[in-house]
Amino acid sequence: MTKPLKNIKKDVMEDDSGEDSMEVQTPVIMPEPPEVSNDPTAETLIASLKVTLADVFAMYVKSSYFHWNIEGPDFVQYHGLLGNIYEDIQGSIDPIAENIRKLGGYAPGSFSRYQELTVIPEASKAIPPAMDMLREIYNDLGTLIASNERSYELAEMNHEHGISNFLGERDGILKKHRWFLRATLADR
Ligand SMILES: [Fe+2]
Repeated sequence: MTKPLKNIKKDVMEDDSGEDSMEVQTPVIMPEPPEVSNDPTAETLIASLKVTLADVFAMYVKSSYFHWNIEGPDFVQYHGLLGNIYEDIQGSIDPIAENIRKLGGYAPGSFSRYQELTVIPEASKAIPPAMDMLREIYNDLGTLIASNERSYELAEMNHEHGISNFLGERDGILKKHRWFLRATLADR
């Protein structure tokens, strides 16, 4: 999925109360993944982590919603599968936010701000069929994995090895969730 262009400097400065005294600079375009290496600054890492945080939060909300509302003959299995995903993702929210703070940025924490930062679409108000829910989470995990990887690459470029180790571990866990969904969706 293509990441929309983001105003990366603005993202760094604005979070989250507007009380940040940092000077507002000329807007810079959020690089696509292959271009990330051209701008390996700490500010870019902070901005990327904010996007990853928003992606994680969006996935947490959606996978919880689907966990609660999924129905069908295999309810127990699907409910458990989505439960494992949302619980794991929930556990990654705080470390990502704290890593933003460690780098000197401010962590976003409002639904409106998360919606500005993430490209993961909100779930529909109408409850989708079970297989549609699993497909949607599968696709969103792909978006989150790409976002996580961008942050990982930037952390490595900034020699923030604690952060890159954490994100590298998240990569493996997210891919395992994706495998479980892919196997569940096989031939459906
Ligand atoms: Fe539950």
